[in-house]
Amino acid sequence: MLKDIIKTGEGGFFDHVPRTGLICAHRGARSIAPENTMLALKTARNCGAHCWETDVRQARGGELIIFHDDTLERCTDICARPGAAALKPWKVESCNLEELRRLDAGGWFLENDPYGTVAEGVAVAGSDGQQIPLLCEVLEFTAKHRFPVNLEIKDLHGPEGDDGVVDAVLTMIQETCTMDLVLLSSFRHEYLHRARNLSQDIAIAVLAVGQHPPDLINYLKSFAAAAYHPDQELCDDVLMTALGGAGFRVNSWTVNDMTRAQQMLSAGIGVITDWPQRLV
Ligand code: G3P
Ligand code: MG
Repeated sequence: MLKDIIKTGEGGFFDHVPRTGLICAHRGARSIAPENTMLALKTARNCGAHCWETDVRQARGGELIIFHDDTLERCTDICARPGAAALKPWKVESCNLEELRRLDAGGWFLENDPYGTVAEGVAVAGSDGQQIPLLCEVLEFTAKHRFPVNLEIKDLHGPEGDDGVVDAVLTMIQETCTMDLVLLSSFRHEYLHRARNLSQDIAIAVLAVGQHPPDLINYLKSFAAAAYHPDQELCDDVLMTALGGAGFRVNSWTVNDMTRAQQMLSAGIGVITDWPQRLV
């Protein structure tokens, strides 16, 4: 079993979380708080998750912010703002930081109640008035509370400022003294090579969806990766055991079926879930 063969003491991010059976709050505790807000982060920590996962993007001027989608429509009130039609399709990178910070990033959660937790009365209070966080705010929280974070850099290929995103993220991590508390991941694997070239110390997780990269173990070694993050459809016990034997952690997403999550945790596979509060 994976949990029996993963080594200990490799340093960095994985020294701050359990050896196996990682419970990671996806975009924060997003079933009970608006995703990727400070409230979702605080809720993840309060409910006992071992760490949280969040998404990094850039504002028009290159500032690093926390947001999942490439447009602002789903998770802010931009559509209701005066003059909103002229800004359509509400791309994140087309707005400057001031414009982004003016938006309400929590009211949509109360209105849409995506998980039914608002109606049930189990969502946390305080969703109204949440802002899109800055990466530096999040990392300051990380440093202050020693609460580890899986930073996923979104694929920003194309927009202005893309070339420097990895460098900017690494600089921010260094400035906030959070190198040992961050696990960096991305679907855009060239970002991960860039990160490894910039730092021998940062922990890296390779994200995969749909299919495994060919020659997976050697592929992971090419990044000196600490972990592999496959979507849950790719999780097969035999392969995962082989990865553990080769020294890689495995954390799968987005595991919201609690029976499946418990099976994975028992087998030593970490889960990135919208419902961390049901697993701790
Ligand atoms: O990092 C795991 C997961 O967050 C990747 O997918 O779309 O939720 O960012 P997504
Ligand atoms: Mg993500």
